[in-house]
Amino acid sequence: MKGFADLIEKDAGDALDEHTVALLDRIVQGANRMQELVADLLDYARAGTQQIPSDVVSCEEVLASALADLGAAISERDVVVSHDELPLVRGDRVTLTEVFENLIGNAMKFHGRELPVIHVGAERRGPDWCLWVRDNGIGIGSRFEERIFEPFRRLHTRDEYSGTGIGLAICRKIVERHGGRIWMESEPDKGSTFFFTLPTA
Ligand SMILES: Nc1ncnc2c1ncn2[C@@H]1O[C@H](COP(=O)(O)OP(=O)(O)OP(=O)(O)O)[C@@H](O)[C@H]1O
Ligand SMILES: [Mg+2]
Repeated sequence: MKGFADLIEKDAGDALDEHTVALLDRIVQGANRMQELVADLLDYARAGTQQIPSDVVSCEEVLASALADLGAAISERDVVVSHDELPLVRGDRVTLTEVFENLIGNAMKFHGRELPVIHVGAERRGPDWCLWVRDNGIGIGSRFEERIFEPFRRLHTRDEYSGTGIGLAICRKIVERHGGRIWMESEPDKGSTFFFTLPTA
């Protein structure tokens, strides 16, 4: 679709009026958007099919890789990320890094007037560890609590905040495949905390 629209624009060139060029641009934008959605959907599908390794994983290391992956975005904006001493858990380093990246990425993205201040916490709860990512951002009304974990569910338009709405659905799938649970507590304008549990190493 993109290729053919580009060809028309190139071949027909000056013969096209402004309106037609604008329509062609819309086609290209739509095709780009579709490509993004399909890529995200594939990510989501993959998160559910691969076997989860049962390695001893250091959450300190996982956090460090997630922050390194988010690096450019973090330095751009003077984001402050603090953390408790983080535990060893049992699971898969790669997908757990994805969970931290998604949650911290959201905490950075959905901030209000103030710069994002983010804290990663951890507490032992019986046989599991409970970890959390807390932010001082725009928050979420409690009636959306469950729904934001559904694929493609977003509370804002793409003009306000970029994204397709797959991040939290992937996080939920990964955490549940580790035998854990994920949920959030939030107050509009005060910030949000996303909690998740993982088995102790
Ligand atoms: N830390 C947060 N503060 C406020 N709102 C949040 C936060 N995290 C998620 N949300 C809300 O939940 C929705 C779903 O989050 P999710 O990470 O799945 O999607 P996204 O960030 O919009 O897009 P993507 O992760 O695919 O780039 C968001 O669009 C936003 O409305
Ligand atoms: Mg996200």
